[in-house]
Amino acid sequence: MFKTTTPDASQLVEKYGSPLYVYDEVYLRARSQYLMQQSSPFGLTVRYAVKANPHPAIIRLFASAGLHFDASSSYEVDALLEQNVPGECISLSSQQPPHNLEKLLSAGVKFVATSLYQLERFTDLAPKGSAVGLRVNTGNGAGHNNRTTTAGVSASFGLWHEYLEQALRYAKKHDIIIDRLHTHIGSGADPKVWRQAITTSLEIAKRMPEVTILDIGGGYKVRRWSGETETDMQRVIETFNEELLNFKRETGRGLHLEIEPGTWLVAHAGSLITQVVDIVDTGKEGYTFLRTDTGLNDFMRPALYGAQHEMQILNSSSTYADYVVVGHNCESGDILTPEQGDPEHIKPRTLKTAAIGDLLLIKDVGAYSASMRAKGYNAFPSAKEILT
Ligand SMILES: Cc1ncc(COP(=O)(O)O)c(C=O)c1O
Repeated sequence: MFKTTTPDASQLVEKYGSPLYVYDEVYLRARSQYLMQQSSPFGLTVRYAVKANPHPAIIRLFASAGLHFDASSSYEVDALLEQNVPGECISLSSQQPPHNLEKLLSAGVKFVATSLYQLERFTDLAPKGSAVGLRVNTGNGAGHNNRTTTAGVSASFGLWHEYLEQALRYAKKHDIIIDRLHTHIGSGADPKVWRQAITTSLEIAKRMPEVTILDIGGGYKVRRWSGETETDMQRVIETFNEELLNFKRETGRGLHLEIEPGTWLVAHAGSLITQVVDIVDTGKEGYTFLRTDTGLNDFMRPALYGAQHEMQILNSSSTYADYVVVGHNCESGDILTPEQGDPEHIKPRTLKTAAIGDLLLIKDVGAYSASMRAKGYNAFPSAKEILT
Protein backbone atom coordinates (compact mmCIF):
# COMPACT_ATOMS: atom_id res chain seq x y z
CA MET A 1 0.00 0.00 0.00
CA PHE A 2 2.84 2.38 0.85
CA LYS A 3 5.68 1.86 -1.59
CA THR A 4 9.09 3.45 -1.27
CA THR A 5 11.29 4.13 -4.29
CA THR A 6 14.95 3.11 -4.14
CA PRO A 7 17.00 6.20 -4.91
CA ASP A 8 19.35 6.31 -7.88
CA ALA A 9 22.36 6.32 -5.58
CA SER A 10 25.29 6.81 -7.97
CA GLN A 11 23.60 9.70 -9.76
CA LEU A 12 22.69 11.40 -6.49
CA VAL A 13 26.17 10.93 -5.02
CA GLU A 14 27.68 12.41 -8.16
CA LYS A 15 25.51 15.47 -7.67
CA TYR A 16 25.46 15.86 -3.87
CA GLY A 17 28.38 13.78 -2.59
CA SER A 18 28.48 10.98 -0.01
CA PRO A 19 27.24 10.34 2.62
CA LEU A 20 23.74 11.47 1.68
CA TYR A 21 20.31 11.14 3.28
CA VAL A 22 17.56 10.80 0.68
CA TYR A 23 13.88 11.13 1.63
CA ASP A 24 11.07 9.85 -0.56
CA GLU A 25 8.59 12.71 -0.96
CA VAL A 26 5.81 10.63 -2.55
CA TYR A 27 5.95 8.19 0.35
CA LEU A 28 5.89 10.98 2.95
CA ARG A 29 2.85 12.48 1.29
CA ALA A 30 1.07 9.10 1.16
CA ARG A 31 1.71 8.38 4.85
CA SER A 32 0.54 11.81 5.98
CA GLN A 33 -2.57 11.72 3.80
CA TYR A 34 -3.46 8.29 5.17
CA LEU A 35 -3.42 9.59 8.74
CA MET A 36 -5.38 12.70 7.76
CA GLN A 37 -8.14 10.40 6.49
CA GLN A 38 -8.58 8.73 9.90
CA SER A 39 -11.19 9.96 12.34
CA SER A 40 -12.27 9.71 15.95
CA PRO A 41 -15.82 10.18 17.33
CA PHE A 42 -15.01 13.45 19.13
CA GLY A 43 -12.37 14.73 16.74
CA LEU A 44 -8.81 13.75 15.86
CA THR A 45 -5.66 15.87 15.62
CA VAL A 46 -2.58 14.28 14.09
CA ARG A 47 0.62 15.91 15.32
CA TYR A 48 3.90 15.07 13.68
CA ALA A 49 6.61 14.54 16.32
CA VAL A 50 9.19 16.90 14.88
CA LYS A 51 12.09 15.32 16.75
CA ALA A 52 11.91 12.33 14.41
CA ASN A 53 13.06 14.47 11.50
CA PRO A 54 12.86 18.27 11.46
CA HIS A 55 14.00 18.72 7.86
CA PRO A 56 12.30 21.95 6.68
CA ALA A 57 10.99 20.37 3.48
CA ILE A 58 9.33 17.60 5.52
CA ILE A 59 7.78 20.18 7.86
CA ARG A 60 6.45 22.10 4.84
CA LEU A 61 5.05 18.96 3.27
CA PHE A 62 3.27 17.85 6.46
CA ALA A 63 1.97 21.35 7.21
CA SER A 64 0.47 21.53 3.73
CA ALA A 65 -1.12 18.09 4.28
CA GLY A 66 -2.88 19.54 7.34
CA LEU A 67 -0.84 17.93 10.10
CA HIS A 68 -0.19 19.71 13.38
CA PHE A 69 3.09 19.40 15.26
CA ASP A 70 4.47 18.07 18.53
CA ALA A 71 7.65 19.78 19.69
CA SER A 72 9.91 18.46 22.41
CA SER A 73 11.85 21.64 23.10
CA SER A 74 11.21 25.35 22.92
CA TYR A 75 13.97 25.46 20.28
CA GLU A 76 12.03 23.06 18.08
CA VAL A 77 9.04 25.39 18.49
CA ASP A 78 11.17 28.37 17.45
CA ALA A 79 12.25 26.51 14.31
CA LEU A 80 8.61 25.70 13.47
CA LEU A 81 7.49 29.30 14.01
CA GLU A 82 10.35 30.48 11.77
CA GLN A 83 8.94 28.19 9.10
CA ASN A 84 5.57 29.95 9.47
CA VAL A 85 3.79 27.09 11.21
CA PRO A 86 1.01 28.83 13.20
CA GLY A 87 1.55 28.67 16.97
CA GLU A 88 -1.95 27.17 17.43
CA CYS A 89 -0.81 24.13 15.44
CA ILE A 90 2.12 23.42 17.77
CA SER A 91 2.06 21.56 21.07
CA LEU A 92 5.12 21.71 23.30
CA SER A 93 5.87 19.04 25.87
CA SER A 94 9.47 19.35 26.94
CA GLN A 95 11.76 17.85 29.56
CA GLN A 96 13.49 21.23 29.94
CA PRO A 97 11.38 24.26 30.90
CA PRO A 98 11.04 26.52 27.82
CA HIS A 99 13.60 29.33 27.62
CA ASN A 100 10.95 31.64 26.09
CA LEU A 101 7.59 30.53 27.45
CA GLU A 102 6.10 34.02 27.36
CA LYS A 103 6.86 34.38 23.65
CA LEU A 104 5.51 30.91 22.88
CA LEU A 105 2.27 31.53 24.75
CA SER A 106 1.69 34.81 22.97
CA ALA A 107 2.24 32.99 19.66
CA GLY A 108 -0.62 30.65 20.65
CA VAL A 109 1.54 27.55 21.18
CA LYS A 110 -0.24 24.88 23.25
CA PHE A 111 1.87 24.21 26.29
CA VAL A 112 1.96 20.87 28.10
CA ALA A 113 3.48 21.05 31.58
CA THR A 114 5.54 17.95 32.31
CA SER A 115 6.19 18.63 36.02
CA LEU A 116 4.80 20.67 38.91
CA TYR A 117 7.60 23.16 38.37
CA GLN A 118 6.55 23.69 34.75
CA LEU A 119 2.91 24.08 35.80
CA GLU A 120 3.98 26.78 38.26
CA ARG A 121 6.01 28.63 35.59
CA PHE A 122 3.00 28.53 33.25
CA THR A 123 0.77 29.88 36.02
CA ASP A 124 3.23 32.74 36.65
CA LEU A 125 2.83 33.92 33.05
CA ALA A 126 -0.63 32.95 31.82
CA PRO A 127 -3.74 35.04 32.54
CA LYS A 128 -6.32 33.56 34.90
CA GLY A 129 -8.67 31.12 33.17
CA SER A 130 -5.95 29.97 30.73
CA ALA A 131 -5.87 26.38 29.54
CA VAL A 132 -2.84 24.13 29.76
CA GLY A 133 -1.97 20.49 29.13
CA LEU A 134 -0.43 18.13 31.66
CA ARG A 135 1.78 15.19 30.79
CA VAL A 136 1.24 12.40 33.28
CA ASN A 137 3.43 9.36 33.81
CA THR A 138 0.67 6.78 34.18
CA GLY A 139 3.01 4.23 35.71
CA ASN A 140 2.64 1.86 32.72
CA GLY A 141 5.39 1.95 30.10
CA ALA A 142 5.89 -0.02 26.91
CA GLY A 143 8.85 -0.04 24.59
CA HIS A 144 11.13 -2.46 22.81
CA ASN A 145 13.92 -1.62 25.26
CA ASN A 146 14.52 0.54 28.33
CA ARG A 147 15.84 3.37 26.21
CA THR A 148 12.54 3.81 24.39
CA THR A 149 10.17 3.31 27.31
CA THR A 150 8.82 6.62 28.50
CA ALA A 151 6.56 5.75 31.42
CA GLY A 152 6.83 3.75 34.63
CA VAL A 153 8.97 4.31 37.70
CA SER A 154 12.22 4.39 35.71
CA ALA A 155 11.07 7.19 33.38
CA SER A 156 11.45 10.88 34.24
CA PHE A 157 8.87 11.96 31.64
CA GLY A 158 5.71 13.65 32.85
CA LEU A 159 4.23 14.15 36.30
CA TRP A 160 4.16 10.94 38.34
CA HIS A 161 0.47 9.97 38.59
CA GLU A 162 0.47 9.99 42.40
CA TYR A 163 1.03 13.76 42.30
CA LEU A 164 -1.95 14.43 40.06
CA GLU A 165 -4.27 15.65 42.82
CA GLN A 166 -1.59 18.08 43.97
CA ALA A 167 -1.35 19.50 40.43
CA LEU A 168 -5.14 19.74 40.13
CA ARG A 169 -5.39 21.58 43.47
CA TYR A 170 -2.66 23.97 42.38
CA ALA A 171 -4.40 24.67 39.05
CA LYS A 172 -7.75 25.25 40.74
CA LYS A 173 -6.25 27.60 43.31
CA HIS A 174 -4.69 29.72 40.55
CA ASP A 175 -7.67 29.55 38.20
CA ILE A 176 -5.90 27.53 35.51
CA ILE A 177 -7.77 24.92 33.49
CA ILE A 178 -6.02 21.64 32.74
CA ASP A 179 -7.98 20.72 29.64
CA ARG A 180 -5.50 18.40 27.97
CA LEU A 181 -4.07 15.14 29.27
CA HIS A 182 -0.87 13.92 27.64
CA THR A 183 0.35 10.36 28.17
CA HIS A 184 3.08 9.21 25.78
CA ILE A 185 4.00 5.76 27.09
CA GLY A 186 6.71 4.51 24.74
CA SER A 187 6.46 2.31 21.69
CA GLY A 188 4.62 -0.67 20.32
CA ALA A 189 2.71 -2.07 17.36
CA ASP A 190 0.30 -4.43 19.09
CA PRO A 191 -3.27 -3.05 19.33
CA LYS A 192 -3.53 -4.80 22.74
CA VAL A 193 -0.66 -2.67 24.04
CA TRP A 194 -2.43 0.40 22.73
CA ARG A 195 -5.74 -0.63 24.30
CA GLN A 196 -3.93 -0.91 27.60
CA ALA A 197 -2.32 2.51 27.03
CA ILE A 198 -5.60 4.26 26.35
CA THR A 199 -7.56 2.57 29.14
CA THR A 200 -4.84 3.55 31.62
CA SER A 201 -4.92 7.10 30.23
CA LEU A 202 -8.70 7.24 30.47
CA GLU A 203 -8.55 6.12 34.11
CA ILE A 204 -6.35 9.18 34.70
CA ALA A 205 -8.75 11.36 32.66
CA LYS A 206 -11.57 10.34 35.01
CA ARG A 207 -9.70 12.11 37.79
CA MET A 208 -9.38 15.26 35.66
CA PRO A 209 -12.90 16.62 35.15
CA GLU A 210 -11.86 19.57 32.99
CA VAL A 211 -9.96 17.47 30.46
CA THR A 212 -11.53 17.61 26.99
CA ILE A 213 -8.53 16.41 24.96
CA LEU A 214 -6.50 13.24 25.31
CA ASP A 215 -3.08 13.28 23.65
CA ILE A 216 -1.88 9.69 23.72
CA GLY A 217 1.51 10.57 22.19
CA GLY A 218 3.52 8.63 19.61
CA GLY A 219 5.46 5.39 19.53
CA TYR A 220 3.74 3.56 16.64
CA LYS A 221 6.45 1.12 15.66
CA VAL A 222 7.45 0.19 12.13
CA ARG A 223 9.01 -2.95 10.70
CA ARG A 224 12.62 -2.34 9.75
CA TRP A 225 13.87 -5.87 10.36
CA SER A 226 12.51 -9.40 10.54
CA GLY A 227 10.73 -10.00 13.81
CA GLU A 228 9.59 -6.38 14.01
CA THR A 229 5.96 -5.47 13.38
CA GLU A 230 4.51 -2.56 11.45
CA THR A 231 1.72 -0.77 13.32
CA ASP A 232 -1.65 -0.96 11.62
CA MET A 233 -2.62 2.64 12.36
CA GLN A 234 -6.23 2.19 11.34
CA ARG A 235 -6.66 -0.69 13.78
CA VAL A 236 -4.93 1.20 16.57
CA ILE A 237 -7.11 4.27 16.02
CA GLU A 238 -10.21 2.03 15.94
CA THR A 239 -9.08 0.62 19.30
CA PHE A 240 -8.71 4.15 20.65
CA ASN A 241 -12.16 5.04 19.32
CA GLU A 242 -13.82 2.05 20.98
CA GLU A 243 -12.37 3.02 24.33
CA LEU A 244 -13.27 6.70 23.85
CA LEU A 245 -16.86 5.67 23.17
CA ASN A 246 -16.86 3.47 26.28
CA PHE A 247 -15.56 6.43 28.25
CA LYS A 248 -18.32 8.64 26.86
CA ARG A 249 -20.96 6.06 27.84
CA GLU A 250 -19.52 5.80 31.33
CA THR A 251 -18.82 9.46 32.09
CA GLY A 252 -20.81 11.45 29.55
CA ARG A 253 -17.58 13.07 28.37
CA GLY A 254 -16.46 12.89 24.75
CA LEU A 255 -12.70 13.44 24.46
CA HIS A 256 -10.97 14.82 21.39
CA LEU A 257 -8.08 12.50 20.46
CA GLU A 258 -4.56 13.61 19.57
CA ILE A 259 -1.81 11.30 18.32
CA GLU A 260 1.85 12.21 17.85
CA PRO A 261 3.50 9.82 15.41
CA GLY A 262 7.08 10.46 14.38
CA THR A 263 8.61 7.14 13.33
CA TRP A 264 5.50 5.85 11.56
CA LEU A 265 5.37 8.87 9.28
CA VAL A 266 9.00 9.13 8.25
CA ALA A 267 11.11 6.04 9.09
CA HIS A 268 10.62 4.13 5.84
CA ALA A 269 10.97 7.27 3.74
CA GLY A 270 14.70 7.72 4.36
CA SER A 271 17.79 6.03 2.93
CA LEU A 272 21.39 6.78 3.75
CA ILE A 273 23.84 6.39 0.90
CA THR A 274 27.40 5.88 2.05
CA GLN A 275 30.64 4.77 0.44
CA VAL A 276 32.98 1.93 1.40
CA VAL A 277 36.24 3.77 2.01
CA ASP A 278 38.39 0.87 3.20
CA ILE A 279 38.25 -2.86 3.87
CA VAL A 280 40.30 -4.41 6.68
CA ASP A 281 40.28 -7.72 8.50
CA THR A 282 41.49 -9.25 11.74
CA GLY A 283 42.85 -12.51 10.37
CA LYS A 284 41.49 -16.03 10.09
CA GLU A 285 39.81 -16.03 13.49
CA GLY A 286 38.51 -12.50 13.11
CA TYR A 287 36.21 -10.44 10.93
CA THR A 288 36.23 -8.50 7.69
CA PHE A 289 35.25 -4.87 8.26
CA LEU A 290 33.79 -2.51 5.71
CA ARG A 291 34.77 0.98 6.74
CA THR A 292 32.30 3.58 5.49
CA ASP A 293 32.36 7.36 5.13
CA THR A 294 29.55 7.71 7.66
CA GLY A 295 28.98 6.58 11.24
CA LEU A 296 27.54 7.78 14.50
CA ASN A 297 28.18 11.42 13.61
CA ASP A 298 25.42 10.90 10.98
CA PHE A 299 23.53 7.87 12.22
CA MET A 300 23.49 6.68 15.83
CA ARG A 301 20.65 4.19 16.04
CA PRO A 302 22.78 1.05 15.63
CA ALA A 303 25.38 2.23 18.17
CA LEU A 304 22.73 3.52 20.56
CA TYR A 305 20.06 0.82 20.48
CA GLY A 306 21.57 -2.07 18.55
CA ALA A 307 19.00 -1.10 15.89
CA GLN A 308 18.94 -3.21 12.72
CA HIS A 309 18.66 -1.60 9.31
CA GLU A 310 18.70 -3.38 5.98
CA MET A 311 21.78 -2.66 3.86
CA GLN A 312 22.67 -3.23 0.23
CA ILE A 313 26.02 -3.03 -1.51
CA LEU A 314 25.28 -1.32 -4.80
CA ASN A 315 27.41 -3.22 -7.30
CA SER A 316 26.78 -6.01 -9.78
CA SER A 317 28.66 -8.70 -7.84
CA SER A 318 27.00 -12.13 -7.79
CA THR A 319 28.99 -13.38 -4.81
CA TYR A 320 28.40 -12.70 -1.14
CA ALA A 321 30.56 -12.36 1.95
CA ASP A 322 30.12 -11.69 5.66
CA TYR A 323 31.08 -8.22 6.80
CA VAL A 324 30.98 -6.12 9.91
CA VAL A 325 30.05 -2.65 8.72
CA VAL A 326 31.61 0.14 10.76
CA GLY A 327 31.55 3.91 10.84
CA HIS A 328 34.50 6.23 10.29
CA ASN A 329 34.60 7.67 13.79
CA CYS A 330 37.49 6.91 16.09
CA GLU A 331 35.24 5.00 18.47
CA SER A 332 35.05 1.23 18.85
CA GLY A 333 31.30 1.54 19.39
CA ASP A 334 30.81 3.06 15.94
CA ILE A 335 29.31 -0.11 14.51
CA LEU A 336 26.58 -0.14 11.88
CA THR A 337 25.93 -3.88 12.23
CA PRO A 338 25.68 -4.58 15.94
CA GLU A 339 23.89 -7.55 17.45
CA GLN A 340 20.14 -6.87 17.45
CA GLY A 341 19.25 -4.87 20.54
CA ASP A 342 22.82 -5.14 21.84
CA PRO A 343 25.22 -2.42 20.69
CA GLU A 344 28.00 -4.01 22.79
CA HIS A 345 28.43 -6.84 20.28
CA ILE A 346 29.04 -7.00 16.55
CA LYS A 347 27.10 -9.16 14.13
CA PRO A 348 28.51 -9.81 10.66
CA ARG A 349 26.09 -9.26 7.80
CA THR A 350 25.98 -11.21 4.55
CA LEU A 351 26.26 -8.66 1.76
CA LYS A 352 27.35 -8.65 -1.87
CA THR A 353 31.14 -8.92 -2.11
CA ALA A 354 32.30 -5.33 -1.82
CA ALA A 355 35.24 -3.32 -3.08
CA ILE A 356 36.60 0.00 -1.89
CA GLY A 357 34.61 2.76 -3.58
CA ASP A 358 31.32 0.81 -3.70
CA LEU A 359 28.21 2.52 -2.45
CA LEU A 360 26.24 1.04 0.44
CA LEU A 361 22.55 1.85 0.90
CA ILE A 362 21.16 1.82 4.45
CA LYS A 363 17.37 1.68 4.60
CA ASP A 364 14.58 3.00 6.80
CA VAL A 365 16.57 5.88 8.24
CA GLY A 366 13.97 8.63 7.96
CA ALA A 367 13.39 8.82 11.74
CA TYR A 368 15.80 9.57 14.59
CA SER A 369 18.75 9.35 12.24
CA ALA A 370 19.79 12.73 10.81
CA SER A 371 17.99 14.36 13.75
CA MET A 372 19.80 12.34 16.42
CA ARG A 373 23.37 12.19 15.16
CA ALA A 374 26.52 12.93 17.19
CA LYS A 375 26.99 15.93 14.93
CA GLY A 376 30.52 17.27 14.65
CA TYR A 377 32.24 14.28 16.24
CA ASN A 378 35.77 13.87 14.83
CA ALA A 379 34.98 17.05 12.85
CA PHE A 380 33.45 15.01 10.05
CA PRO A 381 31.05 17.06 7.93
CA SER A 382 27.43 15.96 8.31
CA ALA A 383 25.66 14.00 5.60
CA LYS A 384 23.53 16.24 3.39
CA GLU A 385 19.79 15.62 3.28
CA ILE A 386 17.58 15.85 0.20
CA LEU A 387 14.02 15.01 -0.80
CA THR A 388 13.47 13.29 -4.12
C1 LIG B 1 5.96 13.07 23.67
C2 LIG B 1 6.30 12.31 22.46
N1 LIG B 1 5.43 12.31 21.43
C3 LIG B 1 5.71 11.64 20.29
C4 LIG B 1 6.89 10.94 20.13
C5 LIG B 1 7.14 10.26 18.84
O1 LIG B 1 7.38 8.90 18.98
P1 LIG B 1 7.55 8.00 17.69
O2 LIG B 1 8.50 8.67 16.81
O3 LIG B 1 8.06 6.71 18.24
O4 LIG B 1 6.19 7.88 17.08
C6 LIG B 1 7.81 10.90 21.19
C7 LIG B 1 9.07 10.16 21.05
O5 LIG B 1 9.88 10.02 21.90
C8 LIG B 1 7.51 11.62 22.38
O6 LIG B 1 8.36 11.62 23.41
